Amino acid sequence: MTELLFNPFEPGFTDDPYPAYRRLRETEPVHESPFGFWVMSGYEDIAALLRAGMSVDDHKLASGPVRDQREQLDAATRGGVLGLSMLERDPPDHTRLRSLVGKVFTPRKVAALEPEITALVDARLDEIAEAGRVDLMAALAFPLPFAVISKLLGIPEAGHERVRDLSGLLVRTLEPVADQELLDAVAKAGIEMAEIIREIIAWKRAHPAEDLLSALIAAEQDGDRLSDDELIAQVTLLYVAGHETTMNLIANGVTALLRNPGQLALLRERPELAANAVEEFLRYDSPVQQTRRITLEPYTVAGRTIPARTFVIAALAAANRDPRFWGDDAEDLRIDRELARNHISFGAGAHHCLGPALARLEGRVAIERLVRRFPRLGFAGEVEMNGRMNLRGPQHLPVSV
Ligand code: HEM
Repeated sequence: MTELLFNPFEPGFTDDPYPAYRRLRETEPVHESPFGFWVMSGYEDIAALLRAGMSVDDHKLASGPVRDQREQLDAATRGGVLGLSMLERDPPDHTRLRSLVGKVFTPRKVAALEPEITALVDARLDEIAEAGRVDLMAALAFPLPFAVISKLLGIPEAGHERVRDLSGLLVRTLEPVADQELLDAVAKAGIEMAEIIREIIAWKRAHPAEDLLSALIAAEQDGDRLSDDELIAQVTLLYVAGHETTMNLIANGVTALLRNPGQLALLRERPELAANAVEEFLRYDSPVQQTRRITLEPYTVAGRTIPARTFVIAALAAANRDPRFWGDDAEDLRIDRELARNHISFGAGAHHCLGPALARLEGRVAIERLVRRFPRLGFAGEVEMNGRMNLRGPQHLPVSV
């Protein structure tokens, strides 16, 4: 029996997974878990794995408990057609979908958003100033990225509060393991979300504008390069990835600063460090803690051979604190860390995140302005975590200003 070195169900794991990641990295950086998957935790091993061009398509898994569960998740989200998003496709579909979305979701469009993001942040900060004491999740970390991605896509924000809850469920498909109750909840969420996106697309067809969704619809109508279901899947992916990740960057970043007052003082003294501080937040407490690959052939790494058609978890958050790569202070927050930008929080290889420019811009503007505006920013209660293994961050972040 393999030792239970990595147990995401262990009490406290989702509150603070870093001791478990350290143990794993130090004991068995390439680990076969009794849960039926393998886990990698070293920086170089993970970077190589993600660049090795492996599969992300669960259908290619060998039979076994992981395949059964992935199939259930797949069936659960089939109504939501999420399995058709580029995140879950191999070439040639992945290449086609990614290049289509990449053509309309460009760094130029993102950079042009800075004045609007600044205005959105300032309006939120005005409200926070007035309240004096808020849950920063509800006051800034969620509404900012949600407003920005809605605006970018051209989806009216009003009336779509439900999307927040559904997104929170859908991202649970990215957890390495799930119980039946969760699978059932995700199934329902997948169907409801697909219906919402389908209606939005129908509305947008009748009201095209200068936005990403109109451009994607035009790309679809341009030929048969994108089916209706594929369009829904890419829009859902952008919509959900656009806020569920960046909200954790903002909230984990603020939490890290408040727990490290010396670093907060340094940021106030040297505001020009804000962009580098965001890289360090991404490294220190990764908003996306893991990604996964499926081996198509036996894969040998660090003296271990992972069999073909096996589910491998790449623990990005563990790699981001690997002392063999980062040095002895890997577990410390240092906003002036020289190589912070080498973190692997956006993944690597063919599926490397499409949104780093947007996430970095929102993170920088939000945190820089929050810290500058409120010299007395501090915790106003316990930080309550969201209990997720993967898209991990606070559920509630009480602060006073
Ligand atoms: C993929 C992280 C923000 C869109 C990914 C992957 C990671 C990631 C780890 C998967 C990489 C892999 O499996 O190799 C993050 C983090 C973010 C963030 C940490 C914020 C702090 C965003 C935003 C958007 C976005 C704002 C878009 C609005 C995507 C898309 C993919 C992706 C479309 C799929 C790429 C593909 O499969 O080719 N992201 N992301 N992400 N991300 Fe992000």
